[in-house]
Amino acid sequence: MKKRILLPLVLMAAGSVMLAGCNAPEKVEAVRPVQIAEGEMDPGEWGKAYPVHYDLWKKTAEPTEPGKSKYKRGFDADGITYDKLSEFPYMALLFNGWGFGVEYNEPRGHAYMMKDQVDIDPSRVKAGGVCLTCKTPYAPKLEKEMGLDYYSKPWAEVRAMIPEKHQDMGVACIDCHDSKDMSLVLSREFTLGKALDAMQVDRNKLTHQDMRSLVCAQCHVTYNIPKADGKSVSVYFPWQGSTWGDISVENIIKQIRTDQSVGEWTQAVTGYKMPFMRHPEFELFSRSSVHWMAGVACADCHMPYTKVGSNKVSDHRVTSPLKNDLKACQQCHTETPEWLRNQVTAIQDRVASMMIRSGYATATAAKLIEKVHGLQAQGKEIDQQLYAQAKDFYMEAFLRSLYIGAENSVGFHNPTEAMRILGDSTGFAMKAEALLRQALTKAGEDVPLMVDLELDKYLTERGKKKLMLQKDVEFKDPFGVQDKLVNVELISK
Ligand code: HEC
Ligand code: HEC
Ligand code: HEC
Ligand code: HEC
Repeated sequence: MKKRILLPLVLMAAGSVMLAGCNAPEKVEAVRPVQIAEGEMDPGEWGKAYPVHYDLWKKTAEPTEPGKSKYKRGFDADGITYDKLSEFPYMALLFNGWGFGVEYNEPRGHAYMMKDQVDIDPSRVKAGGVCLTCKTPYAPKLEKEMGLDYYSKPWAEVRAMIPEKHQDMGVACIDCHDSKDMSLVLSREFTLGKALDAMQVDRNKLTHQDMRSLVCAQCHVTYNIPKADGKSVSVYFPWQGSTWGDISVENIIKQIRTDQSVGEWTQAVTGYKMPFMRHPEFELFSRSSVHWMAGVACADCHMPYTKVGSNKVSDHRVTSPLKNDLKACQQCHTETPEWLRNQVTAIQDRVASMMIRSGYATATAAKLIEKVHGLQAQGKEIDQQLYAQAKDFYMEAFLRSLYIGAENSVGFHNPTEAMRILGDSTGFAMKAEALLRQALTKAGEDVPLMVDLELDKYLTERGKKKLMLQKDVEFKDPFGVQDKLVNVELISK
């Protein structure tokens, strides 16, 4: 089928400025000329001037109709909390040892960002107040006022400094807007601002279209929490060595593997002290994806213009475009919603299949490392050269697999880049496995062809946490490891 794109070629070549020009809405004037105080946190106050936006914004609290998105079912009306560990059991093995191995839920609406942190397993907020950084609009204020204490004091203590009525509030108007003129602003100078500086981005050159992605990049990025004496001392985005439009996974890995202060947890199966990665939506998307190159911004797909009565506004019910019946895509694509949905799912199926392959290959290497450590504990000699090389490859495999697993579009934001990264991950994992087998054989150990991953054990070790298998998503696993899935019991909702 021939692709039909509404944008004329000239427009596409002209890039972001023109693209924004082609669908920028008429400027929406305040319904009532209400003065919004500077620093006003309460969206209800902003809502007095912009009731339509306020109503849409509130809708992020509503569940979506089930069945629209195959992979991202964070808050469908079926009442199930989907979590990554049950969907991808190899993650339960790899993340065992800290909070993410206990509970790692799929995202849901912006209204829940704080509530979900309150509800989640307490081990997930052990790092302290720093965990509030992308969870409350009060974060920049608290950071400024409290300094070092903001990062290190217990999470609950810092949260208690937020006025009570806002302690559960999600993403607010002030996170993205300047109350004076409703222009887009970056409220998180202490994180995103510093990260842009690290890449030497000239802020005066940022376009309006850039801002329509950057407001999201305040939170939808990976970050690390440096520690000193076991206490969190700051938070940063590992973009050192990268440039605008080219934040590579290689540079990120290099940064977090060399910065010793960001070893945040100990992986139980290997005993390695590890850094971690979270939701790198902006990084993956902006690394020369087809849409980024065409000047498309996050807001184009997640906040499409929508008609409410006689108003044409940006949809502030920020959600998956699939749950919004692909209306966002139809601003530019003329294909039917069914065609577009199939495109998205087809991309995601391929990425998920590759992600599983890389995940299981990495998990297999992890189990062999565990075996090596077991032998060493019994006083057996292990070839240190083989082991050191295997360890290095294993880390490279693990971090790449983690990166795409944490990215929330299941590869859609940049399919070719996602596949490249997962291919590399699988390659590293298989090299690690080969070296470990060699080291084990050399030590006189007989390694079976199929390494038992003991996934049931890792899934059950999570305790009575919600354990739900996404039964209707089936993957063809070339190595047969997925057969294990059948044995996993559904513990509770
Ligand atoms: C202040 C931090 C913050 C900002 C700014 C932010 N987000 Fe989010 N977003 C989150 C968090 C946290 C979640 C997960 C909430 C949860 O699961 O409780 C989330 C969830 C989402 C979801 C999933 C929604 C669903 O229905 O499942 C989408 C889509 C999303 N964000 C897109 C965006 C886009 C696009 C922007 C920019 C226009 C943006 N976000 C800006 C923090 C933020
Ligand atoms: C070309 C359209 C497009 C652009 C641009 C885009 N996204 Fe997405 N995004 C998608 C699609 C499609 C999905 C997959 C949704 C699904 O599977 O339900 C997705 C998924 C997500 C999710 C997970 C949603 C959920 O329901 O859990 C988040 C969060 C997200 N995107 C944030 C962003 C951010 C931040 C940016 C900019 C850096 C961005 N997106 C740019 C189309 C886009
Ligand atoms: C996650 C970021 C984010 C949050 C939170 C947010 N907005 Fe917006 N808002 C945007 C983006 C992006 C646009 C599009 C701006 C543009 O292209 O100039 C926008 C546009 C607007 C506009 C201009 C008209 C339009 O619809 O494009 C108004 C008015 C507005 N928002 C009001 C609000 C109010 C009121 C709240 C809080 C209830 C709010 N916004 C919360 C990101 C956000
Ligand atoms: C603001 C305009 C715009 C929006 C919104 C948009 N696209 Fe695109 N899309 C483009 C352009 C431009 C291209 C590149 C043209 C081409 O290569 O044919 C493209 C390319 C694609 C491709 C081919 C990508 C590839 O790797 O070859 C797919 C698939 C696609 N879009 C799906 C979607 C989906 C699904 C959505 C909604 C979630 C969406 N697009 C939203 C403008 C847009």
